[in-house]
Amino acid sequence: MRDRLLAAEKVKAIDWRDGTLHLLDQRVLPFEETWHPYTTAEGVAEAIRTMVVRGAPAIGISAAYGIVLAVSDRLAEGGDWQMALEEDFDLLANSRPTAVNLFWALNRMRERLYRLKDHEDPLKVMEAEAVAIHLSDREANLTMAQLGAELIRKHQGNLQTVLTHCNTGALATGGFGTALGVIRAAHLEGMIERVYADETRPWLQGSRLTAWELVNEGIPVTLNADSAAAHLMKTKGITWVIVGADRITANGDVANKIGTYQLAVAAMHHGVRFMVVAPSSTIDMNLASGDDIPIEERDGRELLEVGGTRVGADVDAFNPVFDVTPADLIDAIVTEKGIVERPDTAKMALLMCRKRLH
Ligand code: MRU
Repeated sequence: MRDRLLAAEKVKAIDWRDGTLHLLDQRVLPFEETWHPYTTAEGVAEAIRTMVVRGAPAIGISAAYGIVLAVSDRLAEGGDWQMALEEDFDLLANSRPTAVNLFWALNRMRERLYRLKDHEDPLKVMEAEAVAIHLSDREANLTMAQLGAELIRKHQGNLQTVLTHCNTGALATGGFGTALGVIRAAHLEGMIERVYADETRPWLQGSRLTAWELVNEGIPVTLNADSAAAHLMKTKGITWVIVGADRITANGDVANKIGTYQLAVAAMHHGVRFMVVAPSSTIDMNLASGDDIPIEERDGRELLEVGGTRVGADVDAFNPVFDVTPADLIDAIVTEKGIVERPDTAKMALLMCRKRLH
């Protein structure tokens, strides 16, 4: 299965080449495939803030490369470069607040920095650490894809009609996806009849990115308005809702793209199974519950305008871009360390003690 999954890989959004970070501009997909080069931490922070790159694992990986760029600049400046680097860590950490992968990757880079030995080349070591973060996310995607597909087979072996939200594919990760990775693996196993993709207002990650990734791979996909989801569950035989996550707390609560919570409520009502797929870098054991997760609020213009044209009345708009799904609405959290069914604090703690399965 691993080889078949790798052979099916088509899209990538992050490319580290010759000391430069190249990012596929997700703001203009699917109509334009434009890559931008980044050579400074400042540029990478801006790319994360403005969502040139987005998706929890992808922003963590980009931030790690941002630190490599900063190390190169700070070394060239001379002086106490390690002290000066703290400014770059802060800049990147302040680019977006909700996805914990960003802080996880920055912490990992900082820890590696503290372990630097006198004989080591700082730039080479930090670059190797960023590349390792990138590659391990790709490996995690592969493991989760297989585990998630097995879980689907275990519960219902027949053809599945699944609903997904936001974009959790190659564009959002270092590999080919979390929730979308599971959907890909299940498709390769002949288990997917159709995927319904929520359009994911207001940024349209579903209609612009998920639909594009799936149609490119020949996976049957139909787009629907977010508000059609409960109706689809009632009328279209949806068997699974499969989503990613931006932060999972110690009790198994899940922050993900706004609209995920109402999907979980509707899924529970309709007896539809609800799967969350995320690498362990998305799990924040420092927060007891989802109540503690900072929820990003973006500019109201994302709601009031479409393609830069005003469509809303002259009012204020409230635009929280994530919400929290309580653990008791979740059937399974699939990670590269294993699966937690009906998550709670004890099961999450046990999971985090395990080694990765690859
Ligand atoms: O605002 P975005 O597009 O960065 O939000 C992304 C999501 O909410 C994804 O579902 C989540 O990051 C999981 S991606 C593997």
